[in-house]
Amino acid sequence: MTARSAFTRILNVEDARQAARRRLPRGLFEYIDRGCEDEVSILANRRRLDAIALSPAVLVDVARTSTEAELLGKQHPLPIVVAPTAVAGLVWHDGEIALAQAAARSGIPFCVSTQSITSIERIAAEAGADLWFQLYIWKNRRRMLDLLDRAWAAGAETLVLTADTAVGPNREYNLRNGFGIPLKLSWRAALDVALHPRWAATVMLHALATGQVPTYAHYPAEFRTRLGREALSDEISLAKDVTWDDIRLLRQRWPGKLVVKGILRVEDALTASSHGVDAIVVSNHGARNLDCASGPTDVLPRITEAVGDRMEIFADSGVRRGADIARFLALGARGVMIGRATLYGVAMGGSEGAARVLDLLSAELRTTMGMLGARELGSIRRAEPSP
Ligand code: GLV
Repeated sequence: MTARSAFTRILNVEDARQAARRRLPRGLFEYIDRGCEDEVSILANRRRLDAIALSPAVLVDVARTSTEAELLGKQHPLPIVVAPTAVAGLVWHDGEIALAQAAARSGIPFCVSTQSITSIERIAAEAGADLWFQLYIWKNRRRMLDLLDRAWAAGAETLVLTADTAVGPNREYNLRNGFGIPLKLSWRAALDVALHPRWAATVMLHALATGQVPTYAHYPAEFRTRLGREALSDEISLAKDVTWDDIRLLRQRWPGKLVVKGILRVEDALTASSHGVDAIVVSNHGARNLDCASGPTDVLPRITEAVGDRMEIFADSGVRRGADIARFLALGARGVMIGRATLYGVAMGGSEGAARVLDLLSAELRTTMGMLGARELGSIRRAEPSP
């Protein structure tokens, strides 16, 4: 692992999480960190991953191990994609660029969110990463297609449609913290910011100094508004009538690879495959949307058996260790998406902080593989469940 002197005391993702907690206003930290409703699912994701034991092969020469993975036709040094996360640009000044730079340094893709503060054009120009683009479907489909043209023109070749957010999730802590998008001014929020001066000095003061008040960069210019002001047009609010017809439309219009994220049923995986989708992400959205949802580990083996020879399968939700990546791979995933962990890293220290998290995960994955006697990712095996 490359030593990054600024973060030598950050030894795992939990350390980065604690650093992010200290730095960010509470409302913003909890927006990233927490789940939904009673937060049963966030703990369940952890327990489900912990319950997956891997089977070590002994006396294997592991002097050289390779974590190389082919993801959607491209070779990458790690089986990781940095997941799309809304408003990373509030966590650190130009946070999306910082994340993309860290991804580029690790040679892995960065998936730009529809709800990014920084535009895909700027990220492409300043980070040099392999960019994917995540889509939330707006009510006005014509405007959504214009956005797709923009993403393609900026160089994104992979489109990721998030399919598991049919309605707005119930996250009570955001209400309690007075945190919402658009941002609302309140005494509570002002106090929260005042108590976190290092964050305020980088993100807020930079915005004030440059006059670039944070806004959703992908929203059409005529509707774009500061995050602090109310009315975004209804045309670009998230559609609640998204169906497989939209997948058909996207398949016709998008010339590159198409990925559907948020699948938890074998039938839906089969339907995605019959619509010409190139890959799915088996995910419960990091336990952020539906507190009673099943977890990706519950369904990954069956989904892999059903469609693994036709589509690439990715997984996410709850990766905190290299061993978690190995667990998802042992269940059939080709790659994993990492959302919160790299956000903690970027909150802690911009691009260097996110790179530190990726380096830690990569080193842990290598150690896990060495211990498992797995010289390449395909050799990672799940232990037989006890009889
Ligand atoms: C958005 O996708 C979120 O999870 O907040």
